[in-house]
Amino acid sequence: MRYREFKLERYFARYEFSVRHLLSPSDCESLSMQELLELADAECLELWHNLKLGYTESPGHPLLRQEAARFYEKLSAGDILVTNPEEGIFMAMQSLLQEGDEVIVLEPAYQSLQEIPRALGCRVVGWPLTVRQGSWELDLNFLVEALTPRTRMVIVNFPHNPTGYLPDQETFRKLLALVEERNIYLFSDEIYRLLEHDPERRLPAAADCYDRAISLGGLSKSFGLPGLRIGWLATRDKEALGKFAVMKDYTSICSSAPSEILAIIALRNKEKISRAKLALVLENLRLARDFFSSRPRLFQWLEPRAGSTAFPRLVTDQPVDQFCRELVEQKNVMLLPGDVFDFPGNHFRVGLGRKNFSEGLALLEQFIGG
Ligand SMILES: Cc1ncc(COP(=O)(O)O)c(C=O)c1O
Repeated sequence: MRYREFKLERYFARYEFSVRHLLSPSDCESLSMQELLELADAECLELWHNLKLGYTESPGHPLLRQEAARFYEKLSAGDILVTNPEEGIFMAMQSLLQEGDEVIVLEPAYQSLQEIPRALGCRVVGWPLTVRQGSWELDLNFLVEALTPRTRMVIVNFPHNPTGYLPDQETFRKLLALVEERNIYLFSDEIYRLLEHDPERRLPAAADCYDRAISLGGLSKSFGLPGLRIGWLATRDKEALGKFAVMKDYTSICSSAPSEILAIIALRNKEKISRAKLALVLENLRLARDFFSSRPRLFQWLEPRAGSTAFPRLVTDQPVDQFCRELVEQKNVMLLPGDVFDFPGNHFRVGLGRKNFSEGLALLEQFIGG
């Protein structure tokens, strides 16, 4: 099994901790320890102060699994396995896929969603998001055509990184019906859930809708807590969950003890934390929309519907990777070129979740000459 370099992660590794302005991250502004601990109830404070730094329960702290289960209507703590989010993707693919399986995955995608099945020897079919009349679309007919008797898993990510695409309820229902008819797995990366720009458009969790769906949840994006490294896999498929648990013994064994308690505190304040993150995203979205759509000779603005990222286009002849490189060299501002997603069209990712967004935008304005 051979893994190719994770282009996005390598790009971030080069700049994330050295440039002054990140105009591309997908996570929202992080909470400090103090801010989070101030939200703790009496039970959590006691757990925190009396915490011993030993190994923890492999499936996750019982209270953490209980809090995570509240994301779902039909699931309980026993249907949750705590993992770090990236580890969750790895464990699920590693457990359920094998050489020769066919897998259909959105394109563009967070690279591990495509790369892990590919490295396992699966035939990976990209299901492309396309631009129609200034916004992102997904063609269900493409999926109908791409499904074969060898298809073992469909992999989606709504709200979507990097485009901010979110299907409507009807499209999502049809997608569920297509996988359910064939009894194949649906891996649904829901790590940007709670960041729907119009909360009315929030989709049900896939794990609630179909028993062979696996929902990936986590605290990295909509809670602004990626440093905890806490997420979870949720499914009603007991056999699959058992396989994931076997895998965890070979990856992390158990999750970090302090992170688990901090994660319980965050989940008990889910509405408060995620509402503040969404408010920041919406404020930055307004700035980004005004900035990019008022410069049509340079950019095509593509409105996101959910999540903390947008994926507009540079419409000049300049290759977007060169544009981003000159921007970082001259202004110390990082934008992420669409090339890291191996996606054509001269797109770049804008991250909408950070407090200093307007400062980065002002430097971008200087760079392009107003
Ligand atoms: C769609 C998606 N899934 C999973 C992850 C992994 O999350 P983490 O970095 O917290 O492991 C990311 C991170 O950017 C992501 O965008």
